[in-house]
Amino acid sequence: MSVKISPSILASDFSALGDEVQRITSAGADYVHVDVMDGHFVPNITMGPNVVKSVRDRSDLPFDVHLMIDPVQPYIENFVDAGSNIITVHHETNDDTKSCIQKIKSFGVKAGLAINPETEWEVAKQYMEEIDMIIVMSVHPGFGGQKFIPSALKKLEAIRKEIDQSGRSIELEIDGGVDFDNVQSTIDAGANVIVAGTTTFKGGPDKYANNIEQLRGS
Ligand code: DX5
Ligand code: ZN
Repeated sequence: MSVKISPSILASDFSALGDEVQRITSAGADYVHVDVMDGHFVPNITMGPNVVKSVRDRSDLPFDVHLMIDPVQPYIENFVDAGSNIITVHHETNDDTKSCIQKIKSFGVKAGLAINPETEWEVAKQYMEEIDMIIVMSVHPGFGGQKFIPSALKKLEAIRKEIDQSGRSIELEIDGGVDFDNVQSTIDAGANVIVAGTTTFKGGPDKYANNIEQLRGS
C-alpha cells in the first residue's frame, strides 16, 4: 500500500503561509493538512476559510481540512467554497456528525470522520457507508508538537480491518505526534495517510523534501 504524507501547515511559518504551502508541494507532499480550531471545541484558535482560500492557488494538491470546531454545519459551505477537497469532522462535537458528512458530500467534496484518543474506534462503524477518510487522533487535538499516544496503534489496526471488510475505499489517516521513530509503526498498523506537522517543517525549507521522504520510508 502506498503511503501519503499530509504535512500540517500548523507547524509552518505563518508569516509566509503561501510560500510554505508551495514549498511542501515541491518537496513531494501528497496532501496539505489544514488544522482548523475554534477555541471552543479545542483550546486553541488557528485559521478559517479565508486563510484556506488565500493560499489555495499555491498548490495543486488536495487540501485535507481537519475541522476541530463546534458547531460545524454553519461553516461547511465556506470551507467548500474556499477550495477544500477533503473535509473532516469530529465525532465528539455536539453537532449532528452524520448530517455534516452528508452536507459535505452534497457539495461533491470528500468527507472524513475524526475520533479523539479517548473515543472507542467502534463509533466509526455507523459512518462507514458515507465517509472517504477516518482520522485517528494520536494526540488530544488542539496543539501541534505533542507526544504520540501509543494506544492509537490498536485503533488503527481495528479500523483497518473494518475498512478492508467493508470493501469501500476509505483512507486511514493518523494525526498527531508522528515522527521518524514511530511512523513505521503507524503504517504497519494500517495507516495510509500520515499527518506530520513538526516533523515535516523541522530544520527549515531545505529539509522539507528529506523529511517527507524519510516519513514515507522510501
Ligand atoms: C492536532 C492537529 C494535528 C497536529 C499535527 O490538533 O490536528 O494535525 O497539528 O502536528 P504534529 O505533527 O506536530 O503533532
Ligand atoms: Zn489535524
